[in-house]
Amino acid sequence: MPRDVGSWTKNKLKILSDYLPVYLKATTRAMERIYIDGFAGPGLNRVRGTGKIVDGSPLIALDAKAENGTTFTRLFFIERDEASALELENTVAQRDTQRRCTVIPGDVNVELPRLIERLPKRSPTFVFLDPEGIDPQWTTLQKIAGWKTELLINFPFGMAINRNPDSGKVNAYYGTREWRPLWESTSPGRIRRLLDLYKNRLQELGWRYTTDADPVVTGTRGQRLYYLIFVSKVEPGQRIMKWVQERPDSAGQLRFKF
Ligand SMILES: C[S@@+](CC[C@H](N)C(=O)[O-])C[C@H]1O[C@@H](n2cnc3c(N)ncnc32)[C@H](O)[C@@H]1O
Repeated sequence: MPRDVGSWTKNKLKILSDYLPVYLKATTRAMERIYIDGFAGPGLNRVRGTGKIVDGSPLIALDAKAENGTTFTRLFFIERDEASALELENTVAQRDTQRRCTVIPGDVNVELPRLIERLPKRSPTFVFLDPEGIDPQWTTLQKIAGWKTELLINFPFGMAINRNPDSGKVNAYYGTREWRPLWESTSPGRIRRLLDLYKNRLQELGWRYTTDADPVVTGTRGQRLYYLIFVSKVEPGQRIMKWVQERPDSAGQLRFKF
C-alpha cells in the first residue's frame, strides 16, 4: 500500500528530484555513482486530500538521470518495516530493468554501517536520510564520514526533537549532550541554535560544505515540521544545492528558508 503523506511531502521530494540529475552530471566521470536511502519507505506515496500517487525518494533516485544520460550505478534502499520493504522490492522489480537496486530490510543504524564497509571509499555516494523521528544515530554518521558521501537529512524539529522528552534518544541523535541547554532555552534563536549544533558537528566530521539557509517544510497550518540539511565534502555540491534551493517549490512558490 502506498504511504499516506501530507501535501508538503512534495516540497521535500522536489529538492531531491531537482538535485540528483545535476549531481549525476557533476559525477559523470567517476567509475561509480552510488545512492543510499536510509529510510526508504514503500516506494509510492498517496497524497492526503487529493489521493494522488507520487513516487517516493527511492523511485525518484532510480529514475534520476543527468541531461547527458548519466544515472546512478548502484542504489541501496534500507527500510525497517518489513511490509514496506517487501512492497518496495516488488515496485522496484518492475522498474529496475538494469538491476541496479538492492532493498535492505532492517534498521539504518545497523545496516548502513555494514553496507558502507562494502562500498568503494572514493565513489561519489549520495545519502538521503528521511526519518519521521530522530532515528539516525550519531555513530552511524561518524561511520559514513570516511567515505565520499554527501548527505541530505530531514531534521525533524517540529515532528520529533521539539517534542521529545527522551533525552537518551536525543543524546544518541546528536552524539553529545550539548543540545540540552539549547533545548531548554526560551530565547528566540532556539531552533536555529539546535540546528546549527547539528550542522557544526557534521562539518567537524568532514562535510565542510553546506548551504547557509535550510529549507523549511511547513504543514497546512504553516507549522514548521522539518528542515532539510545538506552537507557535502566538495564545493560543487554546495553550489548545486544553493541553486536548487532558489528554485520554486512543488506549488511554484519561492521556498521558505531558515
Ligand atoms: C518518512 S518515511 C520515508 C519516506 C521516503 N523517503 C519517501 O520519500 O517515500 C520514513 C521510513 O523510514 C522507516 N524507518 C523508521 N525507522 C527506521 C530505521 N531505524 N531504520 C530504517 N528505516 C526506518 C519507516 O518505516 C518509514 O517507511
